[in-house]
Amino acid sequence: MARILITSAIPYINGIKHLGNLVGSQLPADLYARYQRGRGNEVMFLCATDEHGTPAELAAAKADQPVAEFCAEMHAVQADIARRFGLSFDHFGRSSSPQNHKLTQHFAGKLAEAGLIREVSEKQVYSNADGRFLPDRYIEGTCPNCGYDKARGDQCENCTKQLDPTDLIEPRSAISGSTDLEVRETKHLYLCQSQLKDQLDAWIDSKSDWPILTTSIAKKWLHDGDGLQDRGITRDLDWGVPVKKGDQEWPGMEGKVFYVWFDAPIEYIACAGEWAEANGKTDADWERWWRTDKGADDVRYVQFMGKDNVPFHTLSFPATILGSGEPWKMVDHLKSFNYLNYDGGQFSTSQGRGVFMDQALEILPADYWRWWLLSHAPESSDSEFTWENFQQSVNKDLADVLGNFVSRITKFCRSKFGEVVPEGGAYGEQEQALITELTTRIRAYEGHMEAMEVRKSAQELRAIWVAGNEYLQSAAPWSVFKEDPDRAAGQVRLGLNLIRLYAVLSAPFIPDASARMLDALNCDDDSWPHDVEAAVSVLQPGHAFTVPDVLFAKITDEQREEWQTRFSGTRD
Ligand code: 2FM
Ligand code: ZN
Repeated sequence: MARILITSAIPYINGIKHLGNLVGSQLPADLYARYQRGRGNEVMFLCATDEHGTPAELAAAKADQPVAEFCAEMHAVQADIARRFGLSFDHFGRSSSPQNHKLTQHFAGKLAEAGLIREVSEKQVYSNADGRFLPDRYIEGTCPNCGYDKARGDQCENCTKQLDPTDLIEPRSAISGSTDLEVRETKHLYLCQSQLKDQLDAWIDSKSDWPILTTSIAKKWLHDGDGLQDRGITRDLDWGVPVKKGDQEWPGMEGKVFYVWFDAPIEYIACAGEWAEANGKTDADWERWWRTDKGADDVRYVQFMGKDNVPFHTLSFPATILGSGEPWKMVDHLKSFNYLNYDGGQFSTSQGRGVFMDQALEILPADYWRWWLLSHAPESSDSEFTWENFQQSVNKDLADVLGNFVSRITKFCRSKFGEVVPEGGAYGEQEQALITELTTRIRAYEGHMEAMEVRKSAQELRAIWVAGNEYLQSAAPWSVFKEDPDRAAGQVRLGLNLIRLYAVLSAPFIPDASARMLDALNCDDDSWPHDVEAAVSVLQPGHAFTVPDVLFAKITDEQREEWQTRFSGTRD
């Protein structure tokens, strides 16, 4: 049994995610986790909320809540939606956990000991009224380019010009509105990534099987322009992991916290500690996933994320781990995704454009979304969600192909033989041909799933469903029954066994429908079809089942139009 560690990029806490976020990280990670569990491997699938940084502080201020309270509430909201989408995390942690505080401070201490952290003096805007330094986006004023009076210190939202806080006309604090601002000297810590450049370069070169999207982004950051730059890892904020060297104070760093992108990936590790605590496990139980000196040397570690996250996972986080000099498990395979667009534009959290996870579940169950999103995953290029395409693929793939197969065979059996797997009828030539075809297709499906080729996996799975339909169409037990009921009984038995086979193979994509199929078959054998011949004989004559309710309802034109209108604007 192999051991597979899987992490999905941890979503920011500041709001409910849209379908574009989902398809770029958590959903394909879940597909892979479910597949690996289905194959009988030991899986640890971790995700968490990314709770620090300015966006969290700003969102809490907007909600008029203390930031800790806001994060606790939003974590519960995100955990609930993830559960309803069938995301099968072994643990859904929080980057604000005590485990992550401790581990982040531990890494900083190790990096300092290794001489990989330096102090830099910088000039930054200080608000006397607020008694704090202001991050760029906490400073507002008039844009020198277009005159918009709510431009932020990092960018003008109106004309998109990138700004420095000192460019703003009549700058004021976004927190209090005070104009009593001054520029003060402040010290920050920088991680000397440039010293690790050669080590990182060699490490990336050793990953010959990584997607080109992943390595090209990493190489660009390593070599373009002045090459890999040292990176500021502290901020003047209240909310975050306080800057310490292990458990020691860090002189001069009082009141500062680590930058959110420093502590967020460390949460992948800390999350395993949270899992252990939540499940009454020991440190050794989580360390066997993460410490190569404590059993993790035989773990395969796979990460899933959108392309914007790649630099942090190919360079910054590996720099943290390599620089610590400690034996932490590093990523073996990094699967990255392009963007999913929405109906002629982009999904946007800040503008509330597109369909958000909670809204999606209000109109249809998770499996409909899972199937469309995964079968259209933005792998080789960006892809686009349109309501027409969604309707077409749900109606064709799920309702006409899979749903119809299940309904036809169970209803025909009930009408001629009762709700029981019929006796008699050995499998003949036509059945053997189907078994041969399915064997080839299932091996191909496994290959694509192992390689995390999400679209190809979906295509192959659909072809497996189609093969069953075609068999049924040409075997035509409803005609054969009149002349040769015994032969028809064999065809129906094979059909019922195919439903079980489809439930097992499809579970990573559409887990609820799979569970309903197995439930209707009154069967808890969900073993993987290593031997297809044996797999289509699991349900023996005399085994009772029930005809399931409609697995997938078709989307009508009226529904499509209604949703199209409902989701054409922006969310508040
Ligand atoms: O892009 C995002 O949603 C980030 N919150 C991802 C962080 S992934 C990692 F660093 F933990
Ligand atoms: Zn402007």
